[in-house]
Amino acid sequence: MHWWQTGVIYQIYPRSFQDTNGDGVGDLKGIAARLPYLVDLGIDAIWLSPVFPSPMADFGYDISDYTGIDPLFGTMEDFDALVARAHAFGLKLIIDFVPNHTSNRHPWFAESRVSRQSAKRDWYIWRNGAPDGGPPNNWLSEFGGSAWQYDAASDQYYYHAFLREQPDLNWRNPAVREAMQDVMRFWLKRGVDGFRVDVIWHLIKDEAFRDNPPNPDYRDGDPAYRSLLPIYSTDQRQVHEVIRELRAVIDEFPDRVLIGEIYLPVEKLAAYYGEGLNGAHLPFNFALIETPWRADAVASLIDRYEGSLPPGAWPNWVLGNHDRPRLASRIGAAQARVAAMLLLTLRGTPTLYYGDEIGMTQVPIPPQRVRDPWGLNVSGQGRDGCRTPMPWDASRHAGFSSAEPWLPLAADSPGSNVESAAADPNSLLTLYRRLIALRRAHAALTKGTYRPVAQSGAVLAFERVADGEALLVALNFGEETENNVLLPNTYRGTVLLSSCPGRAGEAIAGQLTLRPHEGLIILRDSVS
Ligand code: NOJ
Repeated sequence: MHWWQTGVIYQIYPRSFQDTNGDGVGDLKGIAARLPYLVDLGIDAIWLSPVFPSPMADFGYDISDYTGIDPLFGTMEDFDALVARAHAFGLKLIIDFVPNHTSNRHPWFAESRVSRQSAKRDWYIWRNGAPDGGPPNNWLSEFGGSAWQYDAASDQYYYHAFLREQPDLNWRNPAVREAMQDVMRFWLKRGVDGFRVDVIWHLIKDEAFRDNPPNPDYRDGDPAYRSLLPIYSTDQRQVHEVIRELRAVIDEFPDRVLIGEIYLPVEKLAAYYGEGLNGAHLPFNFALIETPWRADAVASLIDRYEGSLPPGAWPNWVLGNHDRPRLASRIGAAQARVAAMLLLTLRGTPTLYYGDEIGMTQVPIPPQRVRDPWGLNVSGQGRDGCRTPMPWDASRHAGFSSAEPWLPLAADSPGSNVESAAADPNSLLTLYRRLIALRRAHAALTKGTYRPVAQSGAVLAFERVADGEALLVALNFGEETENNVLLPNTYRGTVLLSSCPGRAGEAIAGQLTLRPHEGLIILRDSVS
């Protein structure tokens, strides 16, 4: 099996991991300095959100030079040193690749907008306005407002699926494809172990630029973007040809990974593995973030997802990222422990968002400190609250920086930082470490088959089986004791780990009691 199948991926938001130069923003040297923490945690691969030169309109997702490092984060030497140090520790390093759009300050765009005759005009998506003078069609920006920006000099509009500072590249143009594939090669040659590809399902748009239809499920108060179904602006059939080409570049190098960011229902993710699995190795599966946190809903999600995977496709699961509210705030501190057990025992590669392992919560951001452009455009949509600095210890600025951090720290950070959590045998961090260690020790948890065992009320139980070993995972999504979790009456097993204190070594026979918010991993005594 490949490392990206058996391993655990850990996402770092570089601005918020560790600052070493006292500017209140995290940097590459800081990440390098904190690698021993990640080794102790037990993860296998790091994914870094963008660190490339950027005007930071969208905090690095607006890139003005694809083959450099923004001075805010350090230098190319710092990057090379980070790759080398990560590899010396046995960690893989995955970087973000943002091919859908550049910064409006990228030299390609500057050249493109000079005139309709520019050699790079067709590198971006330029259209004439509608006959009535409005934008070319009704497509909306995910960050609010029309997705079209008028350019008076050439009397045309350019398309931007996100901010107007993020013009979309035209991936129907072969020159764009070649240039971006060379960007991938640049980093692969520097030793990166793969890419997480930003908004990969957006890369190709309808050739005829048809209007998106209204969304019948739109409710008042939803972000305006949801008012239309983006069936012509995203998820086009031809995108798979583009992805196949990206994958071919990946395959020029040994054992690298291609991960795609895709917000689509699980049934639609299947296509992103590509025909004959020549697409993304891991089309990110965000369904756990979007599914109500109930045993029945999660059980049916797992079934739907497992049932929709093409033959040989490898699953993956994600509980949080830099775009969604923090896990512990979504489901509460007690269930965050159950979620950790679920994430690390499901079949497929888990991706863990920095700080979720210490239960970081959504930090309230005072209006004058809102930094996220989406939050500034559309009140309430800000993502700053899940991007706050990692609290390492109880010192001033939580050991993150010697200066005031770019976003506020959680008010309670003195009590819930890495240092205090590491010393507490019952902390969430200790649970994560144990879960990851258990995953490493039992092949059933990585390569094992998945078999649903029970779902009733607040309880979800499933078994993972490999090489004559069967691990039962039983999770209580509720706050009541569950006294009679039914197992086959011949079932005999031994508790390996509880998400609550105690019970390791307890013998289980025929049926099971789960305490409130408890998850158990049980080793079956004999597998016939
Ligand atoms: C998805 C990224 O995760 C998000 O942070 C960013 O704002 C958009 N893509 C645009 O690049």
